[in-house]
Amino acid sequence: MHVLVTGGAGFIGSHSVAALLADGHTVRVLDNLHSGQAENVPPEAELILADITDQVAVEAAIQGCDAALHLAALVSVPQSLKQPIETFGVNTTGTAYLLEAARRMGCRRVVLASTCAVYGDIPGMKAEVAPLHPLVPYSASKLMAEELLRCYARSYALQTICLRYFNVYGPRQRADSPYSGVLARWCAAVRVGQPCRVFGDGEQTRDFVSVHDVARANLRAITSAAIESGAVYNVASGQALSLNTILATLRELVGPQMTREYAPARSGDILHSCGDSTRLQALGWHPEIELATGLAELVEI
Ligand code: UD1
Repeated sequence: MHVLVTGGAGFIGSHSVAALLADGHTVRVLDNLHSGQAENVPPEAELILADITDQVAVEAAIQGCDAALHLAALVSVPQSLKQPIETFGVNTTGTAYLLEAARRMGCRRVVLASTCAVYGDIPGMKAEVAPLHPLVPYSASKLMAEELLRCYARSYALQTICLRYFNVYGPRQRADSPYSGVLARWCAAVRVGQPCRVFGDGEQTRDFVSVHDVARANLRAITSAAIESGAVYNVASGQALSLNTILATLRELVGPQMTREYAPARSGDILHSCGDSTRLQALGWHPEIELATGLAELVEI
């Protein structure tokens, strides 16, 4: 297949590009390098430097592609509270441009990187049928993007699939911004002898899923004939761990030089998040990497 990966120079994108190439597909990347890096893109893939909100560039990029994996997004909860319009512009309008380009250019399938943040803070294990309760502009922007995919699946001959990732971590996740994911920030802090900063009491839980497992889920969503168009699938480990528990694991890995400091909780933060990925597992995908293994890989880098 010929596959377009938007955001393919980024964290999840570059791992997904590698997985697609290894499976024998031809890959084109569209990325504005806002948070991605050109050196993340394997030389076998074509890199187009353009913004997802550049309608003309998106249409040109998708030409000749059978499928698109749509990862280009602003992904931070606190950033979305500060910059809601930018978040809606990139995450929602950008998705509209991609879908319309896919329809016009005859691309057959679009896979969206959505998020468990659409479930909000309603307690309990989240299956795809759980009530939706987006709390912040980021989660609302992704839920609206999901609605656009469902709309295009119903209205046109386009297969669309939404993957709701839980907390993704792994190599190449940026650590250099206040908006970066927590495990990337902590591993970077450990490397330079700084304390790991915990927002709140550290008893909030997250379902951390390795980027290697996510890249395999993306590959499956792009290539599987059994996957249901118009549907949504959780991509989760199924295990909720508190930040304090993860810090204890990190300390076992790196030793007593790891220190921590507590700071006030972030507004908009969900307290507990854990995903049920039974639907995706029925298609043959399983989370394979335990958090301790994934963390060990991260601290070695
Ligand atoms: C993350 C993703 C988001 C994704 C969502 C799915 C990032 C930046 N955000 O949001 O795209 O859709 O998972 O659940 O990857 N924390 C600290 N110290 C830090 C940073 C964060 O204690 O230095 C805390 C936060 O307050 C929060 C938890 O760690 O309680 C996770 O934060 P973060 O990694 O930013 O992820 P989410 O907000 O869950």
